[in-house]
Amino acid sequence: MKRYDMHTHILPGIDDGSKSVDQSVELLNGLKTQGVEAVCFTPHYYSHMVSAQEFLKNRNSAFETLKDSIPKGLEVRLGAEVFVTNYLFSDENDLKSVCYGKSDYMLTEFPYSSDFEDDCYTNLLKIMGQGITPVFAHIERYPKLLKNHRKIKELADMGVLFQSNAVSYSELGTRKKLVKLIEQGLVHVIGTDVHSENRNSYKYYDTAIKYIEKKLGIEAVERLCKNSEEIFSKA
Ligand SMILES: [Fe+2]
Repeated sequence: MKRYDMHTHILPGIDDGSKSVDQSVELLNGLKTQGVEAVCFTPHYYSHMVSAQEFLKNRNSAFETLKDSIPKGLEVRLGAEVFVTNYLFSDENDLKSVCYGKSDYMLTEFPYSSDFEDDCYTNLLKIMGQGITPVFAHIERYPKLLKNHRKIKELADMGVLFQSNAVSYSELGTRKKLVKLIEQGLVHVIGTDVHSENRNSYKYYDTAIKYIEKKLGIEAVERLCKNSEEIFSKA
């Protein structure tokens, strides 16, 4: 079963993640030690600060500096962690351009205080109206959603996918909540959200997979990998 990391800040010098090519290579080698074979680069795209076009220009130059140093045995794709604001929907922005590669899946981040009965919900509908499937980054960071499984289920029934961070499976309270969500099919993919050796480290990936397997069986892990594969193969 192939292991995927669907959320990383490994591209050098573009956001608050890796600061250099050397550090990026270290992080990629770190992921390899965890058995990860496929990695999505998802730098922050703050739609209220830059246009999609400008973000893509920066992302491409960061990728150019790294691409020849990517360790052998790793498959990579380009994506973005898209912070959704009203500015995202300006005429000049092509939303598909900030999806995972050529796919119609977009890693999204909303204000964490949202209960999705507000503007965030309207913006979510706008994204989906363009034929894009949002993948909510780190579902565990939305306290109001975590307390409202009915809302999570409603969003999932609409087609929204949810990602959780590997590090959260080493946090006692959070991991229990996440396992419940996985059990109900409400967490779809895993990522590290690695920024550095210490911030959301790659070191948690294998522990997360083993914890999920121990609690829910290998089938649950297989489902997560299969969902990631579905996105990755189209990216
Ligand atoms: Fe992130």
